[in-house]
Amino acid sequence: MALQRLDKILSGQNIATRTESKKLALKGLICVNGEITKRSDIKVDPETDEIIVKGKKLRYRKHLYIMMNKPAGIVSASRDKNTKTVIDLLPEHLRRDDLFPAGRLDRDTTGFILITDDGELSHKMLSPKNHVYKLYSVECDKILTRDDVQKFAEGIVSGEDTFLPAAMKITGTNTALVEICEGKFHQIKRMFHSVGAEVTRLKRLKIGGVFLDEKLSEGECRELDEKEISALTDKTEKEL
Ligand code: URA
Repeated sequence: MALQRLDKILSGQNIATRTESKKLALKGLICVNGEITKRSDIKVDPETDEIIVKGKKLRYRKHLYIMMNKPAGIVSASRDKNTKTVIDLLPEHLRRDDLFPAGRLDRDTTGFILITDDGELSHKMLSPKNHVYKLYSVECDKILTRDDVQKFAEGIVSGEDTFLPAAMKITGTNTALVEICEGKFHQIKRMFHSVGAEVTRLKRLKIGGVFLDEKLSEGECRELDEKEISALTDKTEKEL
């Protein structure tokens, strides 16, 4: 990896601002490859050089990948003047400048939202061409039938809307699991609407090969591990 200024790395990793880095270095609290550096503007390679700040070894991560269990009432945008966003819910240690929610969930939808600063992975995960499936649990105001399952399987065409064939599994009189690989505006709600149902509850349970961690309460989040990060774009993963 290219060399970068130490203070830039530390601020990018949310360890210390540039001014703080300067002070820490002057106090002798930063070591690079076993040697104290009194300057915070030296160039280092964050991937291969060992950087220790206040006795703690830096675990450099080029990008962050955060799974959040989105609560209802929160918008999946980076910033919103009037309402809290998923970014506002991030704990202090997971804050970074360029984080954004990869894809949108409606304000009243709950469940798995990925927050990252990796635009390339986000695109791969969201582009319908890549066929990465997302699994939703749906409750609606109508008794679901095999005819509805059939319509979803054939691909719904409703007015100007066309949706790719989608698998639906009825799990109760008015509840179902649905798996789609597109992410059109209000897609699940519009698909149900076209079979005469209104969605009353919607939760995303899985993206690619990664299930929402059941241990996360609404509003909570955690970083994904390496295996989960590569499973996010796994198109062979299909539940239904
Ligand atoms: N489909 C919807 O209608 N809403 C969501 O939030 C996600 C998928």
